[in-house]
Amino acid sequence: MNLLLMEAKNSLKKPDFSLTDVISIYDFSREDIIFVLERAFQIESMSAEKKSKLLENKIVASMFFEPSTRTRLSFETAIQALGGKVIGFAEAGVTSAKKGETFSDTIKVMSNYADLLVMRHPLSGTARLAAEVSNKPVLNGGDGPNQHPTQTLLDLYTIKKYVGKLDGLKVGFVGDLKYGRTVHSLAVALTHFNATQYYISPENLKMPKHIAEEIKEKCKVFETTELEKFIPELDVIYMTRIQKERFPDEIEYEKVKDVYVLNKAMLKNAKKTMKVMHPLPRVNEISTDVDKTPHAIYFEQSASGIPVREALLDILSKVKK
Ligand code: CP
Repeated sequence: MNLLLMEAKNSLKKPDFSLTDVISIYDFSREDIIFVLERAFQIESMSAEKKSKLLENKIVASMFFEPSTRTRLSFETAIQALGGKVIGFAEAGVTSAKKGETFSDTIKVMSNYADLLVMRHPLSGTARLAAEVSNKPVLNGGDGPNQHPTQTLLDLYTIKKYVGKLDGLKVGFVGDLKYGRTVHSLAVALTHFNATQYYISPENLKMPKHIAEEIKEKCKVFETTELEKFIPELDVIYMTRIQKERFPDEIEYEKVKDVYVLNKAMLKNAKKTMKVMHPLPRVNEISTDVDKTPHAIYFEQSASGIPVREALLDILSKVKK
């Protein structure tokens, strides 16, 4: 594949990756993002044998205090493909947190057992706290409604691979923009790529004001409740699930749960090249008749989790904290 991401290499001296942990997309410069995507494209084209040496003799802790399919299992697949070993847990209920151990103590202990820590937690800010108390790099696989930076990097990788470029795109975020951490992270990342952003949500699930205001200083932003009207303008539609588990009141969830359901007929005036993405899991928000259209790339998007997480593990296994 022609990477077309080699601008850092061609125009400047290639920058070193500036981070020791992957906690928030706010910590990433444009160069850091390109560095990760470029490494992911390189690793994807490596032989299995060469790849299997990259994490040789390394142990990675996979600590999921909240449910996950894609993030946990693509990280664990990536670790094994790179020749590393995985320890960890898929739910907090089997750990000594049940006996009252603090989160900080758990992290300190795990950083003595492993070379890298991957985690997900239902509370915002826990990944930052983990990075502060751990003497090993921490990768945030999602902290409550706050951030999901590794998802963002795989989203950008998917856009680059299937749309062909990252700069100057028109991207529509649809659904739960209040609680959707993948949206918060991707919208911030796209400010490095001069995206025009469309926030399409019900009034009570709008993009948090502090995020929207900051993005508006760097990019053109439209906020609306209408989806169909804007479909012909967009290069990417990023659908999201309404995050039932984060609603304080289930009645409020019932009112908005099916507010946007994208179906094939709604795509009749879309650009031919327009792509539909979704971080998954999907509930009702994309009809299955979209799956076989050339617009749908959400399953390819979930597959991008492997090369991107391989790249992050490889890069962070070489940094010194
Ligand atoms: N996209 C994503 O984070 O999926 P999981 O919740 O299954 O990890």
